[in-house]
Amino acid sequence: MSEKTSTGAGRLRGKVCIVTGAGTLRGIGWTTILRFADEGIRHVYAVDLNPTNFGVLRETFEEMYPASNITFVQGDATNENVIKSLCDRALEETGRLDIFFANAGTFGSQSPSYDQTPLADFVECLRVNVGSAFLALKYASSAIAKTNEASGKLDAGGSIILMGSNSGLRANSTPVEYGASKAAVHHLAMSGAYHNNNRGTGVRVNAVFPGPAGTDFLPAPFQAYVAKRPDLFCSPSAIANTVLFMASDESAFINGTTITLDNGVTNGYFLESLLD
Ligand SMILES: NC(=O)c1ccc[n+]([C@@H]2O[C@H](COP(=O)([O-])OP(=O)(O)OC[C@H]3O[C@@H](n4cnc5c(N)ncnc54)[C@H](O)[C@@H]3O)[C@@H](O)[C@H]2O)c1
Repeated sequence: MSEKTSTGAGRLRGKVCIVTGAGTLRGIGWTTILRFADEGIRHVYAVDLNPTNFGVLRETFEEMYPASNITFVQGDATNENVIKSLCDRALEETGRLDIFFANAGTFGSQSPSYDQTPLADFVECLRVNVGSAFLALKYASSAIAKTNEASGKLDAGGSIILMGSNSGLRANSTPVEYGASKAAVHHLAMSGAYHNNNRGTGVRVNAVFPGPAGTDFLPAPFQAYVAKRPDLFCSPSAIANTVLFMASDESAFINGTTITLDNGVTNGYFLESLLD
């Protein structure tokens, strides 16, 4: 693999970020980290429950982006102590935190409909998808609001990006708990922006809502949609580009919004699909 060393325009130069759900090679979290590094991020804290790929990811990162730093943390994005201490650690080690991409998530029970979904599975999906977004808001807001002259952060503020899904905007064949959890993420982006504005932190909170993106996250029937109409569904790198924009100062004043990456599919359905 060739060394790239930030070929971008330096849109994140000097900044420090935390990304959860960053442990899979083809996943949205890891793809976004590489995109951030391409734009000169100074330090990435990459979090995942599953550390299996950390070794190979570290090797890739250090070879491609020797000017940036990465710290891998095996941890649960729904654990209050993990997220609090990670935000504290970023401040202690680098003097600043600018970006939190709350990307960790679960698809839920995979039950075909609500009548076969155990309540425990419903609640667990909300715990993971909403709880992880909430903890990002709760702890990263204060950390991102801090200035630190020594680290070059003279202005308070930065960006929290929550991971949603187009399933949170319209009913579809994903598990009911998955759609409900991502709908709550939509609201958390709005209330996060509202409360941060009231507190004058300078922290923006937004959400990205992609359609199926063809990572290993998706069960087979959804992979089949992507394979059938690849023109309609975005790739992890398209999502990473949008997260980069939301993380950078270019999206200043965009706050409390949900950005859908679905090529318009969530607007309606194709009559042709009824004939399949
Ligand atoms: N792939 C898609 O089609 C798609 C579409 C819309 C939204 N999303 C959302 O994107 C996010 C990432 O999905 P992906 O496709 O990259 O999947 P992925 O499986 O590649 O990555 C998800 C990662 O999150 C980790 N994770 C799960 N729970 C965690 C926790 N509590 N703490 C820490 N890490 C945890 C998993 O170990 C995994 O490595 C999810 O929130 C998902 O809902 C995915």
